[in-house]
Amino acid sequence: MLRLFFALPCPPVIAARIDAWRLQQGFSGRPVPAANLHLTLAFLGHLPESTLGLLEGLPPRLPLRQLAFDLQLDRLDCWHGGLLHLAPNQPPAELLALASGLGGLLGGAGLPSEPRAYRPHLTLARDSRLPGHIDPPRFAWRPEELALYRSEQGCYLPLATWRLG
Ligand code: 2AM
Repeated sequence: MLRLFFALPCPPVIAARIDAWRLQQGFSGRPVPAANLHLTLAFLGHLPESTLGLLEGLPPRLPLRQLAFDLQLDRLDCWHGGLLHLAPNQPPAELLALASGLGGLLGGAGLPSEPRAYRPHLTLARDSRLPGHIDPPRFAWRPEELALYRSEQGCYLPLATWRLG
């Protein structure tokens, strides 16, 4: 079984900036390694390797080349259990359409899709908490890639990627 998810990778230049910024802030908890920073679109849980072919056939069914949008992570927040993350104050409609398009295709293929409302976020650290005052962060980029990831022992390995925009 493979633990799988679809996500927008954080480009290395932005990941390096986020990493430098979070070091400066001195956040508590266990930081997500810079190379692992990403924005999940659909979490699949554990699936047999035999589903990979089916999964890789889904993104090409979405109008990916028409999805050009800027992602602005301008909010720092912390959820239940200390999940410190960055999020867009106003998630772009294209991002929400991409996540719901994938969710629809997964459901249509009989694969598990997340029943909870989609809340786009980029996890910075676990077992953490919000610091007192902090200047609002502002990280922005235009996602150029969607990836199917395998999560294994704390490492996220892209198994396949598709171009956006
Ligand atoms: P998290 O960072 O908020 O924990 C790989 O584990 C990716 O899938 C992470 O982005 C993680 O989100 C997300 N993920 C893990 N378990 C999940 C679940 N049950 N539902 C939705 N996303 C999940």
